[in-house]
Amino acid sequence: MKAAVLHQVKAPLAIEDVPEPSPRPGEVLIELRAAALNRRDYWITQGLYPGIKVPCILGSDGAGTVVEVGSDISTRLIGQEVVINPGLEWGPSEGAQSTRFRILGMPDDGTFAEYVVVPLSNVYPKPPHLSWHEAAALPLAALTAYRAAFTQGELTAADRVLVTGIGGGVATFVLQYSVAVRAEVLVTSSAQEKIEKAIELGARSGYNYTDPQWDEAVLEASGEVNLAVDGAGGKGFEKILKLLAPGGRVVTYGVTAGAKVEIPLNRLFWRQLRIIGSTMGSPRDFERMLDFVTRHLIRPAIDSVFPLDRINDGLERMRRGEHFGKIVIEIPH
Ligand SMILES: NC(=O)c1ccc[n+]([C@@H]2O[C@H](COP(=O)([O-])OP(=O)(O)OC[C@H]3O[C@@H](n4cnc5c(N)ncnc54)[C@H](OP(=O)(O)O)[C@@H]3O)[C@@H](O)[C@H]2O)c1
Repeated sequence: MKAAVLHQVKAPLAIEDVPEPSPRPGEVLIELRAAALNRRDYWITQGLYPGIKVPCILGSDGAGTVVEVGSDISTRLIGQEVVINPGLEWGPSEGAQSTRFRILGMPDDGTFAEYVVVPLSNVYPKPPHLSWHEAAALPLAALTAYRAAFTQGELTAADRVLVTGIGGGVATFVLQYSVAVRAEVLVTSSAQEKIEKAIELGARSGYNYTDPQWDEAVLEASGEVNLAVDGAGGKGFEKILKLLAPGGRVVTYGVTAGAKVEIPLNRLFWRQLRIIGSTMGSPRDFERMLDFVTRHLIRPAIDSVFPLDRINDGLERMRRGEHFGKIVIEIPH
């Protein structure tokens, strides 16, 4: 089969022929129709991710058809159209993942290939309202956004929500979920055209985070927020703490702009603020995410589609930060 293989970091992925995997008991073989990029794939190609193993097929997001099953699985599943939950071995707790938890696409071979083997427990029926491209754009980012917004952030219609870096894959889902529950949404971005796209998706207003006074502009135009969902960290995180209303909460799921931040604890305790961490999501979060997306007919914001043999162009687009939403990889069929 054709696959995009990581042989060494800081080098393009190699598009090459590799042996097709076969499912062991408890596993299924999926013929992929589409995959999608996450910032994680880019971090790995740059050597900026713990425990990098080569050679390896990257890719966490994928959708396709079950074409073969392990010896203990009913062959009735063959032909089923599915999306893959890329969180492997989450474990028994809803509070946090187990020490065996890992993400599909390094160290386990992932979805930037014509076929992938995954545990049966990680496949779910494809939401019927989604195309293959849209279904493939869903798993990692929509799951991360679901847990961050709802399970950890306790998002409701009563919230005024700040979503930072709205061009990001996870951020666009948080925006769409917040709009779906009728919360008021403010966004930040480095680009005016992305703010405009966010407003088309239902955001009330947007602020450019490259303006050092963007937090003042939020306070002046909109006032404090009850919930912030942030994947950037860095200096912007310190500003978010200034924007939270008493009793407010901020959910952090990423540190694109830096992991080291200064936190004024006096502000935290006096204003009864909560800082909450969130990573990916449990199988229950994944099921609830699929249910929510299906009920609200949410369609992922797709930025662009690259064929598998041009995946390195997709990664370059992500590096340049040009995207709004998900970069999809079309798998030859
Ligand atoms: N914990 C988890 O489970 C989990 C899951 C998924 C992702 N993540 C992490 O979360 C982050 C976002 O992931 P993603 O896949 O959504 O990435 P992505 O699609 O590549 O989005 C990154 C976005 O970050 C925004 N950004 C960059 N610098 C910023 C800054 N200084 N302030 C505010 N926003 C800034 C940009 O927004 P604009 O283009 O609008 O300027 C950019 O589009 C990454 O660090 C990723 O590793 C964590």
